[in-house]
Amino acid sequence: MAKRFPEGFLWGGATAANQLEGAYREGGKGLNIPDVLPGGKVRLKVITEPGFNFEIDNEKYTYPNHEAIDFYHRYKEDIALFAEMGFKAFRMSIAWSRIFPNGDETVPNEEGLAFYDRVFDELHKYGIEPVVTISHYEMPLHLVKEYGGWRDRRVVEFFERYATALFNRYKDKVKYWMTFNEINSGLHMPIMGLGFAIQEERDRYQPTFQAYHHQFVASAKAVIACHKIIPDAKIGCMIVYTPTYAFDCNPENVMYALQEERLFNYFCGDVQVRGAYPAFMKRYFKEHNIQLEMEPGDLELLKEGKVDYVAFSYYMSRTEKKDKKPEDVGEGNILGGIKNPFLKASEWGWEIDPIGLRVSLNQLYDRYQVPLFVVENGLGAYDKVEEDGSIQDDYRIDYLRSHIQEMGEAIEDGVELMGYTSWGCIDLVSASTGEMSKRYGYIYVDKHDDGSGTLERKKKKSFYWYKDVIATNGEKL
Ligand code: BG6
Repeated sequence: MAKRFPEGFLWGGATAANQLEGAYREGGKGLNIPDVLPGGKVRLKVITEPGFNFEIDNEKYTYPNHEAIDFYHRYKEDIALFAEMGFKAFRMSIAWSRIFPNGDETVPNEEGLAFYDRVFDELHKYGIEPVVTISHYEMPLHLVKEYGGWRDRRVVEFFERYATALFNRYKDKVKYWMTFNEINSGLHMPIMGLGFAIQEERDRYQPTFQAYHHQFVASAKAVIACHKIIPDAKIGCMIVYTPTYAFDCNPENVMYALQEERLFNYFCGDVQVRGAYPAFMKRYFKEHNIQLEMEPGDLELLKEGKVDYVAFSYYMSRTEKKDKKPEDVGEGNILGGIKNPFLKASEWGWEIDPIGLRVSLNQLYDRYQVPLFVVENGLGAYDKVEEDGSIQDDYRIDYLRSHIQEMGEAIEDGVELMGYTSWGCIDLVSASTGEMSKRYGYIYVDKHDDGSGTLERKKKKSFYWYKDVIATNGEKL
């Protein structure tokens, strides 16, 4: 195979603070949204249905993010394993509530800042670049309860203060940043991304898009601050990208798929990359009676605060038709598409579509012409520890291999790609279901859905495979 991946390609793995750190009340950390999300499949129900009250109910639920995999105390051991695989980059997030426990303080929490100093120093010891998400579904709970999350304009200022504190503190340690994880996911799950629960159907429109406007302004302010404080840094947006196929060539279905795709895949990216609301949103706002409240200067800020690159997660494509019936919807299609007869699905029903990654890379590059970064991709699967202690996860290797192959194709198509950090390089708590048994890692963690386990780490077969992939810069798959 021809050499496809450029020199300096950022191979690595991706995580989020709330899904691996644990230590949820240590080091002065305040509560955040994932601390009140229950474990198990019930979580998905709780975060997509109205009425969630952001309270902990120990009688009814378990809270797996509280301990997670205890990275907070074991980061040295874990980073040594990443280094053994040859990681060039490690995507992680900073828990906002470790730095500003309530979110609205004026002075950051030194213990929280010092923790991430230690993590960055450990990564640099091995030549691993930290790639940092500023906000990965981790808003301090106080901002949710007192301010209603991103619906309140004052949150923009709190976020700006938080992001600026990070840039000032870590300016010599972190060169790759992202503002909001999967910013467009709030269109489906506002609890995690926008910090409020839909109580009534009408909340879907005015409050949701007002919250988005605030996030866009906050993102632009963070980009401007980052460029000023760390001139050699790159800061990107981060979206969940699901290329949207029309079910067939019926023009009605093609138009419907296009509309769905524009709203979900492009609305946020267009604002953050191009610095302005896309034309197609005018009609959408009008039809849903949405009137955005803006402050003078907001539109100029959006123009000034354009991101340097587009990071995205890719797990699945989506297939749409206009008049779909509930029974057409694929079981695990959390974004609502119908079943695609050409694709197999994971054990959680997520449809596996490696070519969809090549499609995504081409579509995004055609549209934005800025470097792209695949910062999440992977297979959530049940793993079995054999009697000899090994974990033979060939299914994961197959999944990753086929996606990396398609990434190589996209690079040959001309796409400028910065790197690949597969999701959950070490097993961690699932975001949508709060399960430990939905595993993505090259490293197995002995922790189970009922909270039991020694937390011992073990290398899976995929660990050795990925090590070779990195060592050969993607040549040996
Ligand atoms: C992305 C999130 O949606 O997908 C991660 O950014 C998440 O936080 C990942 O963990 C995989 O989803 P899940 O639900 O399988 O953990």
